[in-house]
Amino acid sequence: MDRPDCDPLLLERTYAQFPLVNRFVSGWRQVYVALIRPALPRNRTGTILDIGCGGGDITRNLFRWATADGFDVRVVGIDPDARAHDYAVRSAAKAGIDPTLLEFRRAASSELVSRGERFDVVVSNHVLHHLGPVELAGVFADTERLARTLAIHSDIRRRRSALVFFGLATLPLDRSSYIRRDGLTSIRRSFTADELSRVVRPEWHVYSPGLYRNLAVWHAPAALP
Ligand SMILES: C[S@@+](CC[C@H](N)C(=O)[O-])C[C@H]1O[C@@H](n2cnc3c(N)ncnc32)[C@H](O)[C@@H]1O
Repeated sequence: MDRPDCDPLLLERTYAQFPLVNRFVSGWRQVYVALIRPALPRNRTGTILDIGCGGGDITRNLFRWATADGFDVRVVGIDPDARAHDYAVRSAAKAGIDPTLLEFRRAASSELVSRGERFDVVVSNHVLHHLGPVELAGVFADTERLARTLAIHSDIRRRRSALVFFGLATLPLDRSSYIRRDGLTSIRRSFTADELSRVVRPEWHVYSPGLYRNLAVWHAPAALP
């Protein structure tokens, strides 16, 4: 799906199937409750940035959960891919969400750094395994400059059994989208917990909730309990 010449119909269906896959494998509700909710301010507008938001389903969920919890919050999802950006904008409009509160921008993290933007919480999902060593170091450095309080990069943890289970569970989707093929490639490219611990910067901590997930977490020095 990363190829510029990929089939537009299969790509559209892939974005449409991401919410289903993310709901089962990504565990963002637990991450929101345990880490993000306690880090959001109650006395002013809070801000969340989702780097590499793709079709924007996790961005939308973070906005919904924070709003339902009574936070005055502004959420931004960025992705340099025009097709992902277009899908995310359309989905939020279809859901009737105010674009001044949930905004999607076609941009890379470095562009927001250049503009000096800051957010209370910065997150990403399934971005790390996409990046080469130089880009990876860049995204970690960008994240520290963009996050005021907390940053969380969540990604697949590579295990052989993940290939088996994901391969079987997504068999029915095989011909309808890129989910199965790209998902298996993503699992193969992803990090073990040890590998991720070796590539994060010193102030980051790697946690492995469940069998198939790595979280790289950073607290701004002044925000530490
Ligand atoms: C596998 S997709 C993940 C999409 C979405 N987060 C999800 O979980 O469904 C990875 C995305 O990261 C984006 N990306 C890669 N490097 C980035 C950067 N430096 N800043 C913002 N987005 C980036 C890519 O364009 C791609 O759409």
